[in-house]
Amino acid sequence: MDDLKELDDRFVLHTYARREIAFERGQNATLFDEDGRDYIDFTSGIGVNSIGHNNARLVETITKQAAKILHSSNLYLIRPQIELAQKIAALCAQDSRVFFANSGAEANEGAIKLARKFGEKSGRHKIVTLKNSFHGRTIATLKATAQERFHEHFGPFPDGFVYADNLAQIETLVDRQTIGVMLEVVQGEGGIAPLDKRELQELAAFLSKKKLLLIADEIQCGVYRCGEFSAAQIYGVYPDITTFAKGLGGGVPIGAVVTALKEVFDYGDHGSTFGGNFLSASAALTTLAVLEEMQKSGALQRSIDYFGDMCRSLALNFPNLFIGVTGLGLMKAIVAKDALTQKAILDKAHEKRVLVLRAGANHIRLLPPLTIAQEEINKGFKRLEAACRDL
Ligand SMILES: Cc1ncc(COP(=O)(O)O)c(C=O)c1O
Repeated sequence: MDDLKELDDRFVLHTYARREIAFERGQNATLFDEDGRDYIDFTSGIGVNSIGHNNARLVETITKQAAKILHSSNLYLIRPQIELAQKIAALCAQDSRVFFANSGAEANEGAIKLARKFGEKSGRHKIVTLKNSFHGRTIATLKATAQERFHEHFGPFPDGFVYADNLAQIETLVDRQTIGVMLEVVQGEGGIAPLDKRELQELAAFLSKKKLLLIADEIQCGVYRCGEFSAAQIYGVYPDITTFAKGLGGGVPIGAVVTALKEVFDYGDHGSTFGGNFLSASAALTTLAVLEEMQKSGALQRSIDYFGDMCRSLALNFPNLFIGVTGLGLMKAIVAKDALTQKAILDKAHEKRVLVLRAGANHIRLLPPLTIAQEEINKGFKRLEAACRDL
């Protein structure tokens, strides 16, 4: 392990402050490190391993696909990509088309370009985003991210992003150059914060009346994370553009821009060498099949209810550490009383071998695989409880 840490320090750029744990394999929501120690995974690789580690159906799909063809370029018809686009359109219940990218930031870049082209003729290009948002690490998506700390060092940025303190303020920021609003339906990195349902519906109605775009960044909260395919469906709103990534490929990188603006992009307007290739598209098809079955059978809702109960009882049992629980579906946070407590819990949890994430200033973010078993939930919370008892 010391060797690995040394090599990491020496050869990998220092963009992540890593914990000294090296995983070797996993099974559903349980990971094993190189010394064979087990960890309960309440993070799914930051919302990615939506159907768990080593899912037999996903492994079979990937293996079979790899033996046939991985990549052909987007210059040719790609059967699983086309089937995936059709599936996503059906799941969004929207007459839409899809562009495939490889990550969340890239999907958001695509969404921003689409919105800008849509607004080109009317001279509109500005996009309003929300305080505490997170939209990615590219230059444009960093600027779309309304947290100033992400803007240090990397300017100059492209113009055209305006920040609102809250949903109610958005209307007052719209001017003749505004093309739309981009938001996370449930904010993730900035602190787990589901938007208010009535306020979002009112905003959607306002935007629709003004012929402005609602762009939903569902990169973290989408793909059944909150209980439905998209979180917007739970809110009863229909965005003009929605972006997905993270959980869509079950661990294989893929991003998607889904839009009802079917005719805005023309050939050559956008592209991606890898986007939606055979490997990622077939992995996503299997991931969606597993998740759709779980949702239809009620298994997903049962896990959401059980996991939520466990979060609430942990928070209630340790009022010295926590002030509440927030989130939607299996995108949850137990809110620590302050940043120092947050850090202490994160460290202790890892010591007790349960993986949890930070979010915002004081949130312990929990994004377990959607397939997590009840025994894994029990084990994870037992370890979290032990961590809390030690503090
Ligand atoms: C809401 C949201 N948008 C965009 C991104 C960027 O995704 P990626 O890291 O895949 O580029 C993230 C990543 O955390 C996210 O949570």
